[in-house]
Amino acid sequence: MTPSQDDLKRAAARRAVEYIASGTTIGLGSGSTVRPLIEFLAERLASGALRGVLAVPTSEDTAAQCRALGIPLTTLDEHPHLALAIDGADEIGPRLDLIKGLGGALLREKLVAGAAERFVVVADASKRVRKLGTRAPVPVEVVPFGWSTHLPFFQKLGAEPALRRAPDRRPFVTDEGHHIVDLRFPKGIPDPEALARALARRTGIVEDGLFLGMAHTAVIASAQGVRILER
Ligand code: A5P
Repeated sequence: MTPSQDDLKRAAARRAVEYIASGTTIGLGSGSTVRPLIEFLAERLASGALRGVLAVPTSEDTAAQCRALGIPLTTLDEHPHLALAIDGADEIGPRLDLIKGLGGALLREKLVAGAAERFVVVADASKRVRKLGTRAPVPVEVVPFGWSTHLPFFQKLGAEPALRRAPDRRPFVTDEGHHIVDLRFPKGIPDPEALARALARRTGIVEDGLFLGMAHTAVIASAQGVRILER
């Protein structure tokens, strides 16, 4: 039987949990691939296979799941250096450059990944792309004040921008109280570094979902099995 996407996410998560060592402080990402990883981590802590693991959650959702499963939490302020961060991705491109943030947690995710000695990304094979931007938009987190003034700027960068909305049609609000504008690039992003530089320079943009040169390892599950890629 062909495995479903959920089966593949679980398979990748089951393999990725092996990167977590006893006595370490780790960052835990957000999204539907990290959810089973958190379950596997809780099982290992409960069985005694792992001990003394502390986690910095990248979203309120992840924090709530950890609390429900009894995984001890801490903060980046208490533990600014993490041994490891594990997170999902929306696209995994060449050299393990990523697009992240479709779940809306990109700002905390980037802070946590940047604080980690090793950043492991976990995904099913549908996330792999030859060119960034071909599958997912680039989420850009903006302060609500004057958010629409960025739209012509995004268009000049070649993007089709759209304010992300919550199910009730109000602007989506991140855990840090910002909005997100999703940038679609119909032919993919020609130069991700140049785009990241342009976004970083603009006042009112808090962070973008381009995670370039950050991931060290990718754990990717397909119907053929789980593959480990190193940058
Ligand atoms: C959350 O903001 C994102 O960056 C997630 O890591 C990303 O959307 C992957 O989520 P899934 O594992 O649900 O695809």
